[in-house]
Amino acid sequence: MISGHLGIKENTLTIGGADTVELAKEYGTPLYVFDENKIRECCRAYVNSVEKYYGGNGRIHYASKAMCIKEMCRIVAEENLGIDVVSGGELYTAYAAGFPMDKVCFHGNNKTPDEIAMALEFGVGRFVVDNEYELETLSRMAREKGVTAHVLFRIKPGIDAHTHDFVKTGQIDSKFGVALETGEALDIIKKALKTDNINYCGIHCHIASQVFEVKPFCEAAEVMMDFIKVIKDETGADTKELNLGGGFGVAYGDADTPVAYDKYMEAVSDVIHKKCEEHNIALPFILMEPGRSIVAAAGITLYTVGGIKEIPDIRTYVSIDGGMADNPRYILYQSEYTFCVANKAAEPKSEVVTIAGKCCESGDLLGEGVKLQKAQIGDTLAVLTTGAYNYSMASHYNRIPNPAVVMVRDGKSRVVVKRETFEDVIKNDI
Ligand SMILES: Cc1ncc(COP(=O)(O)O)c(C=O)c1O
Repeated sequence: MISGHLGIKENTLTIGGADTVELAKEYGTPLYVFDENKIRECCRAYVNSVEKYYGGNGRIHYASKAMCIKEMCRIVAEENLGIDVVSGGELYTAYAAGFPMDKVCFHGNNKTPDEIAMALEFGVGRFVVDNEYELETLSRMAREKGVTAHVLFRIKPGIDAHTHDFVKTGQIDSKFGVALETGEALDIIKKALKTDNINYCGIHCHIASQVFEVKPFCEAAEVMMDFIKVIKDETGADTKELNLGGGFGVAYGDADTPVAYDKYMEAVSDVIHKKCEEHNIALPFILMEPGRSIVAAAGITLYTVGGIKEIPDIRTYVSIDGGMADNPRYILYQSEYTFCVANKAAEPKSEVVTIAGKCCESGDLLGEGVKLQKAQIGDTLAVLTTGAYNYSMASHYNRIPNPAVVMVRDGKSRVVVKRETFEDVIKNDI
């Protein structure tokens, strides 16, 4: 799987026109590398879909949890996206990057009072309220500050999306949001309408991640539109904003078949228009929150191959200088990846190996049964489609410093996050 922004030049893998082996030499490994043009292309595909299918009456918010660094915030701001943050740290990153705070949506199922205070101070555009305790805290803190908080409510629409259990969020047994079936969702909105310093703007749902079908998004849109009608009938209130979350799937391997980005908006827009007619309500402003599908494919990770252990009739371990500390997705979800020996990219993948990380855990693998060119000590190994939920999920397990992040544009590279040093790792130890 070599796609557009990746190429092969003289047997070497390239990204955004840059030679990956040279990048590994210049910046060291492990190394996260992103193609900026690819990120921008994905942003534009979504923005154009809102123009084309929804008359521009909406906004795409980048779900920053996928890859939250200042440079990503700057890029998506330039592409006229909003941003979804889910913690004080993500909010602070956006703020520090100069991101327009009115285009920030603050999510999270347990925002702390400190995080709420920071968000009110920064003037974030929308709070996505998860529960009654949050509503009460937000109202009290907004009143004390003399401001109004503009809110959406996170709803569990009860949609079953076919994906991994850990990334499913729309069903009733979820820690996120309020349920429709039990009347909880209507009750909290009724309460919000009578609560001081709270301005009810709309509702939000996020059904799951890594979803390859359009149908669950359409079903969620239907459920949400029917609920907007219930809110109108029961309270008289208009729901001006509908935030349908993210979750659009990307290809990690050949078996994954992502849908063209504008297909989501085309199908969902159709549902919303029909429902507005049926219920005689105005078209809501629409928000969508793709994370993975903006940034995953744009990123790769480069490693240096160390020891290779052939266990006869069992398997061959190819060890690398990174692993679960920079990419915990295999140990968490057994996520599939595509691998390539970057300095032998044009050669056939003649071996089947296990890629082993360097952490002190037997489960620290990046893939098993992996097809790979014949690897040797010192080779550069590239793991593709690591742009989302890799850097953002990295840890310091075994006190391993986080790798650097390099952005490539038109063949030119620059560091956007410096490699951590051992000093960085111990800097808060007393
Ligand atoms: C509320 C919300 N919006 C958007 C996203 C982004 O999802 P994805 O990266 O799969 O597009 C998530 C992911 O967990 C989420 O919880």
